Amino acid sequence: MTVDLPYAGMTFERQKTNRMNLAIETHNVRKLYKPRGRPEIVALHGLDLAVAEGTVFGFIGPNGAGKTTCIKILSGLSSPSSGSATIFGHQAGSEEARACLGYLPEIANYHDFMSVEELLLTHARLARVPRAQQREACQSALEAVRLVDRRKSRIRELSKGMQQRFGIAQALVGNPKLLILDEPTSGLDPLAQKEVKDIILALRGRGITIFFSSHKLTEVENICDLICILHRGKLLQCSPLDRLLEVSGTVHIRFSGASPQLVEGATLASQSSEGSMIVLPSSQVDRQIQQIHAVGGSVQQVATERLTLELAFFNLITQAEHRS
Ligand SMILES: Nc1ncnc2c1ncn2[C@@H]1O[C@H](COP(=O)(O)OP(=O)(O)OP(=O)(O)O)[C@@H](O)[C@H]1O
Ligand SMILES: [Mg+2]
Repeated sequence: MTVDLPYAGMTFERQKTNRMNLAIETHNVRKLYKPRGRPEIVALHGLDLAVAEGTVFGFIGPNGAGKTTCIKILSGLSSPSSGSATIFGHQAGSEEARACLGYLPEIANYHDFMSVEELLLTHARLARVPRAQQREACQSALEAVRLVDRRKSRIRELSKGMQQRFGIAQALVGNPKLLILDEPTSGLDPLAQKEVKDIILALRGRGITIFFSSHKLTEVENICDLICILHRGKLLQCSPLDRLLEVSGTVHIRFSGASPQLVEGATLASQSSEGSMIVLPSSQVDRQIQQIHAVGGSVQQVATERLTLELAFFNLITQAEHRS
């Protein structure tokens, strides 16, 4: 059965997705925190997400946007105050959902007196890997993160980057169909960041769905099929990179003739006898061209400024801050 599922926040065409192939689906997820003696915090305001199997999904947003809250709900560590979240069709937190996923928490405190091998074996048991396959599962997880030669080291003897790679190995050891990584490259040097990025790309090649949060926007830009921007618990955008850059981009319209009425968000950047230039958000281009034609003007050139994800992110967040 195919159904229409909106990637929330999208204003363009809906994506046709087979529900059976959805690694993650959330409907109207709200999360309220009620700290004792202090006002409640609404961390998520009715989040709708749909992530198809095989996608590398980048979850970005400012500090406090609600990324970890959402990730904890998907991983079953926290329950939504209302709404629903499913992993491959199973309710988040259920045995079946947990069996499908591997999770790297934002802050991990491992038993650092244990060796890499011992602790990974413990995680293999927790992930219910059959006894006869546990050693092999550990070996292939260590190979994936290139830690085989450190398997006898105690966790406390590993560098931060190695500990982060260990974290990915423990998420991988149960051979999950879905990996949820909360800031996998946080605090890593550029070489270690590249290593983690390569690991993610290799896992994508094996068809594993990867859902990760990050503040490293170039990394997200380079490896994600779908990027979702969360702001104050709400989705601002959720789309492939090109689409996201398109909707957040700036357009320059060069025209001649009388000055038209400027549409919302447009500014007159230059004016001379040879022609004038208007700068405006891409969403307003059609309306502005109509205004130019309405006063008998003629459009000479329409040029789109190609943004980086960093600039697009900045623009979208700034616009959202102005609206709220
Ligand atoms: N256990 C908690 N109790 C009370 N409030 C919480 C709790 N956990 C998170 N919050 C609040 O919920 C909001 C979202 O926090 P969350 O950790 O999900 O953000 P984030 O997007 O992961 O941020 P960061 O990029 O800093 O990791 C914040 O206002 C935070 O203070
Ligand atoms: Mg977080």
